[in-house]
Amino acid sequence: MSPAETPRTTVDPARVAALTATEDELFLRTHPRSKVLFDRAQAVMPHGVPMSWMAKWPGAYPVFVDEASGAHFRDVDGLDYVDLCLGDTGAMTGHSPAPTVATVREQVGRGITAMLPTEDSVVVAEELRRRFGLPLWQFTLSATDANRHVIRYARHVTGRPKVVVHDWCYHGSVDETFATLDAAGRTVPRRGNIGPPVDPAETTIVVEFNDVDALGRALAGGDVAAVLVEPALTNVGIVLPDPGYHDALRELTRRHGALLVIDETHTLSAGPGGYTRAHGLEPDLMTMGKAIAGGIPAGAFGMTHEVADRIARSIELEDIDVGGIGGTLAGNALSLAAMRTTLTEVLTDEAFARMLPLGARWADGVDAGIARHGLPWHCTRLGARGEYTFTPTAPRTGAEAHAAGDFGLEQLLHLWALNRGILLTPFHNMALICPATTEADVDRHTEVFDELLAALTG
Ligand SMILES: Cc1ncc(COP(=O)(O)O)c(C=O)c1O
Repeated sequence: MSPAETPRTTVDPARVAALTATEDELFLRTHPRSKVLFDRAQAVMPHGVPMSWMAKWPGAYPVFVDEASGAHFRDVDGLDYVDLCLGDTGAMTGHSPAPTVATVREQVGRGITAMLPTEDSVVVAEELRRRFGLPLWQFTLSATDANRHVIRYARHVTGRPKVVVHDWCYHGSVDETFATLDAAGRTVPRRGNIGPPVDPAETTIVVEFNDVDALGRALAGGDVAAVLVEPALTNVGIVLPDPGYHDALRELTRRHGALLVIDETHTLSAGPGGYTRAHGLEPDLMTMGKAIAGGIPAGAFGMTHEVADRIARSIELEDIDVGGIGGTLAGNALSLAAMRTTLTEVLTDEAFARMLPLGARWADGVDAGIARHGLPWHCTRLGARGEYTFTPTAPRTGAEAHAAGDFGLEQLLHLWALNRGILLTPFHNMALICPATTEADVDRHTEVFDELLAALTG
């Protein structure tokens, strides 16, 4: 974000800079072993990290992990952290949940991948049907792939070229979704879009979240194959839908013959059947990934019988392996075994019954800190997930949420927390609760957050 866009956080930038300098120095003093590894890593990996996003952590370099278990991890300097990032949801089960670990250990010795189905695939598909309502399921290795596949299917069966997405959405590295609205309301490449194959305006129509009129206009052209949405935005801060927004979305997509795809990858935090089940939504297709196999690579997409019939009618068996759907390792025995145990023994209804109140406890702690220090900030809740923004009220659109960002302040908040044993999601001020998180873990964040607000405002 450029300085011109820097928002109204009511925090003195000079104080942010001074505190950041102190925290940077503290980080360097307390993380010497990570530094040694980082120096080696820089010689063999760009930014010294195995995946480019890992360069975005606060501090001079990322902490290198020694061991992670449940809601905590320990770094190579021997420091313990409450993990509220949880691998940006990949470890929403808690790190290495015992039942999943036992299953994975066993399955590794019984065959990892054969490109043949196992009984586990049937059990998992039955469980996903029970939880999310859609009757038919397919598997991938990531949520990104699930989204790519449903977009291809939607284009194929509707014969239409375009996809509608929300402004400031994120659905994985899916070309069609890297678009935003410009000031004139046109669809343009998202800032930072790396090497788009074509101008996203050719494939995509972007509409603002909660804007029913814009959605109606986008669909009225009759060229939209699918509307791909998170039921609440979670990747530009959390933006909740207005009452009635999902009803309008469903009604308009049906009226204009576009398929409705709900991406539940992050909104699984709303409950055992995600936001969809918690709010009685009726998508044509649904996608997910990340946590559903306890961190073992896995994704899934579900569909109605009607969509499945349309697909079946339009695809020849002879071409099924070369049409752009699937992958050699997708649906492998190991991923499915991990998914079975994770869904039936880890991310259970009982686990959510513990996680949801802890999510509320975290947000209560944040709200209390904000109120005590008189800051015009807001905390938004999404079940086991919460996020605070530097605005007095909840953002209603992706653009509002994006404009509320303040990269420098966020880096300080995150570094302050990290230096006191708490890991937050690096891309924004989000926290996630896992089944192993305790009240003491949540309260530790409340305490640390309060101390920082005191330092910022006192
Ligand atoms: C809503 C949503 N969908 C899909 C994805 C892609 O997940 P992955 O990178 O694991 O493929 C993400 C990643 O953050 C996401 O937030």
